[in-house]
Amino acid sequence: MTINGGRPLSGRIELKGAKNLVTKAMVAALLGETPSVLRDVPAISDVGVVRGLLEVHGVKVSDGDAEGVLHLDPSNVESANFVDIDAHAGSSRIPILFCGPLLHRLGEAFIPDLGGCRIGDRPIDYHLEVLRNFGAVVEKLPSGIRMSAPNGLHGAKVALPYPSVGATEQVLLTAVRADGITELRGAAIEPEIMDLINILQKMGAIISVDTDRVIRIEGVDALSGYDHRALFDRNEAASWAAAALATNGDIFVGGARQPEMLTFLNVYRKVGGGFEIHDDGIRFFHPGGELNPVIIETDVHPGFMTDWQQPLVVALTKATGVSIVHETVYEQRFGFVDTLVEMGATIQVHKECLGGQACRFGQRNFKHSAVISGPSRLHGADIVVPDLRGGFSHLIAALSAEGVSHVSNVGIISRGYENFINKLEQLGADFVLEA
Ligand code: EPU
Repeated sequence: MTINGGRPLSGRIELKGAKNLVTKAMVAALLGETPSVLRDVPAISDVGVVRGLLEVHGVKVSDGDAEGVLHLDPSNVESANFVDIDAHAGSSRIPILFCGPLLHRLGEAFIPDLGGCRIGDRPIDYHLEVLRNFGAVVEKLPSGIRMSAPNGLHGAKVALPYPSVGATEQVLLTAVRADGITELRGAAIEPEIMDLINILQKMGAIISVDTDRVIRIEGVDALSGYDHRALFDRNEAASWAAAALATNGDIFVGGARQPEMLTFLNVYRKVGGGFEIHDDGIRFFHPGGELNPVIIETDVHPGFMTDWQQPLVVALTKATGVSIVHETVYEQRFGFVDTLVEMGATIQVHKECLGGQACRFGQRNFKHSAVISGPSRLHGADIVVPDLRGGFSHLIAALSAEGVSHVSNVGIISRGYENFINKLEQLGADFVLEA
């Protein structure tokens, strides 16, 4: 993309369902004995990857008549052959969540090497430990992971060392059909997880969410399909909100809702961003004047989400004063700032835990605190998109910069942002897309 920066983005865009819910909801359909209908499914490549993996396991996936509707029929689930599964190696992290449902349906599962953004080591030790707790036998092979459940899967007491989103989903998707009761302590409680629980309850599951991150699941013998409209994508909403601020713009994000974004909205207000809550969405705008620096740290829900950090950092380069962002969820999520520095931002990254409490990454050589001094005037640059959220941040930086930027590898952004090219056009961005 060749971007001619410096034009405020303004207009209206519409969100669909959250990438980080929709992909899991598609996996949940595997557990049903009847077909499921999922609504507000975005056209993003991560959905394509999960669709492909479901199809090689015999799930019939078809588009509904209306846009964003997916029908998932798991009546003929079958073991997939290795080559078909391996074709999806390295493309997403979702395949690890197929384990529980496949073990219930087929008694075995094979999971290819995982993909996803390189923003830290991203191990799967919690997932494997959880599955072993339920009775799965895990065999690591050079080409992936093979699992079986010779004695079936049984409810378990599980305590996560950290409230991992994926490991919590692993427990939910396995426990709902396991024999007996599961108690999960240290669960993640992100809104996307709550919506997955909504879906599983529609399917016939019995799940209670107690205080202090405790979730209890009573296994049932059978689940049916669901009909569900996915929760909106609050990460995409925050990304466009940051774009409005960084470009002096005014963006109405249709479908965004206040309750799931409370923490983001507080920070947005402190930075000096304007917002208005409407029944059908949230308007985000730069109200004029200077932006303020902030000190924030990312955290699990209800804290400030790690996925919001990268786009916001671009807006913080425009704030007058020193901001600090302490990343406590992923150890290497500041790789994207090198490009911002090349574009004229003043950002240093430090190994110490700055601006908050000590986190898991302190004293461990990870540059996980960023100090941003502003205001900076960004100028155009040659940019190679590194990952999903970092890539979107680079787009915002280029759109807010003076002069021309050449951005390559933009395809990565379509992993999680539906039709972002059309949306940029709708918002009046000045760019040319090369073949
Ligand atoms: N972790 C482990 N071992 C595990 C699992 C996780 O050490 O077995 C660690 C991770 O390395 C990380 C922390 O726990 O440091 C949290 O990871 P979590 O499991 O919560 O993340 P995830 O499930 O892999 C999802 C989203 C991410 C989002 C995080 C946090 C999906 C597909 N991905 O990842 O989204 O940042 O939760 O909310 O749902 C994105 O959308 O760009 C993205 C990266």
